[in-house]
Amino acid sequence: MAVLPIVEIPDPRLRLISKPVATVDDATRALIADMTDTMYDAKGIGLAAIQVGVDLRVLVIDLQEREDEEGRPVRDPRAYVNPEVLEASEELSIYNEGCLSIPEQYADVERPARARVRWLDERGDAHEEWLEGLLATCMQHEIDHLNGVLFVDHISRLKRDMVLKKLAKLRRAA
Ligand code: NI
Repeated sequence: MAVLPIVEIPDPRLRLISKPVATVDDATRALIADMTDTMYDAKGIGLAAIQVGVDLRVLVIDLQEREDEEGRPVRDPRAYVNPEVLEASEELSIYNEGCLSIPEQYADVERPARARVRWLDERGDAHEEWLEGLLATCMQHEIDHLNGVLFVDHISRLKRDMVLKKLAKLRRAA
């Protein structure tokens, strides 16, 4: 297990269409373990494989919404291999989204409030479920990564320019 460097914009790899995983095997599970370590290290709630430079359709998500008695987030990482949105609600919801590939920038993004998603877990078992709330949003954000789409593609040009300007300023200061 290892913490991997995170690919940030404007790296062109973030625009690649990731390839389906043919067989969920030990190599897939090793990738999932590294991605999970990387997500926690970066204090993210989701990560797509392309964000560590691997163009495979693999995601990890842990919303870390529950806390223990000491107020520390309870970890419950989940892996999603070849995830697919089969159906989405007409009802939309808005979340203030961020992305580890666009550090410390946030914007309100509107997406379907619920989505029926199919995926394989780290053992290769198939699942299909209606997701809602933050999990639905996070899943759609991460699946976007597999298709070369970033959250800033969902906002107005004006807001996108603002986010990119703030990021450039942050990087100059660093
Ligand atoms: Ni992201």
